[in-house]
Amino acid sequence: MKVIKSAASLFKYLKKLKARGKSVGFVPTMGALHAGHLSLIRQARKENNIVAVSIFVNPAQFGPQEDFKNYPRPLPKDLALCRKEKVDFVFLPRPEDMYAEGFSTYISVEGLSETLCGKSRPGHFRGVATIVAKLLNIVQPDVIYLGQKDAQQAVIIKRMVRDLNIPVKVKIMPTLREINGLALSSRNAYLDKKERQDALVLSKALALAKILIQSGARDTARIIGSMRRLISKKKNAKIDYIAIVDTENLKPVKKISGNYLIALAVKIGKTRLIDNFQGRFSTQSESVPA
Ligand code: PAF
Repeated sequence: MKVIKSAASLFKYLKKLKARGKSVGFVPTMGALHAGHLSLIRQARKENNIVAVSIFVNPAQFGPQEDFKNYPRPLPKDLALCRKEKVDFVFLPRPEDMYAEGFSTYISVEGLSETLCGKSRPGHFRGVATIVAKLLNIVQPDVIYLGQKDAQQAVIIKRMVRDLNIPVKVKIMPTLREINGLALSSRNAYLDKKERQDALVLSKALALAKILIQSGARDTARIIGSMRRLISKKKNAKIDYIAIVDTENLKPVKKISGNYLIALAVKIGKTRLIDNFQGRFSTQSESVPA
């Protein structure tokens, strides 16, 4: 496995691969790899000749009060995991190369970035879109693999790729969960034993919403109200938002219909966690993923 630290060296390496007609599957990460990342890497392995992973804790997507400094950076462990998964190369850029002195070009995906997580994390998705665009330019993959856990990020990247005609296929893979329902996230590492238990309230609230929809509930305000009441029972849980939105434009929907996304962000102690599920409802057929 190659570890490549500069865009210039990567360009040279890629030129040879592309000349030999190799397809590249790419998993961008901020490190602290968990089973969710590994499932993306395995999918990329199945579908491409070359598997690329980037590890970069992107300062531009953290707010001033957020956890950039403390974000877990277990690099030797991450590299060992990549090696084990037979990743072909890891791109490990230095912050000063990604954001050179005087850096001033950002990408804003308007209309999708200010809602949901964007409300309490202003600038976050501008940082995400900018770094992903840079990584796509540098790694030049055929396919980029992202997790459904970051649903809003996935929608924003898909839109950016479409709007800017970036020649890459975007594949969104299902959220991986612990057996108790907790969605895998690098930030779960911040939770103590009691908080891990309290954090289950996110997936429980989603499960409640699914049950309500399966038993005929359609009014989203009522569904959100029930989720809110369930979460509020946990003293340690502070709701940032619970929303039911259209999966394409992320606008709130009043009634469950078409493709909808139920998304929530809840602080458990000091740790902000997100989770979601996507459903499809039509009068003919209803599909509410398990
Ligand atoms: O999902 C993440 O880990 C990050 O937001 C990403 C896509 C690697 C961009 O920094």
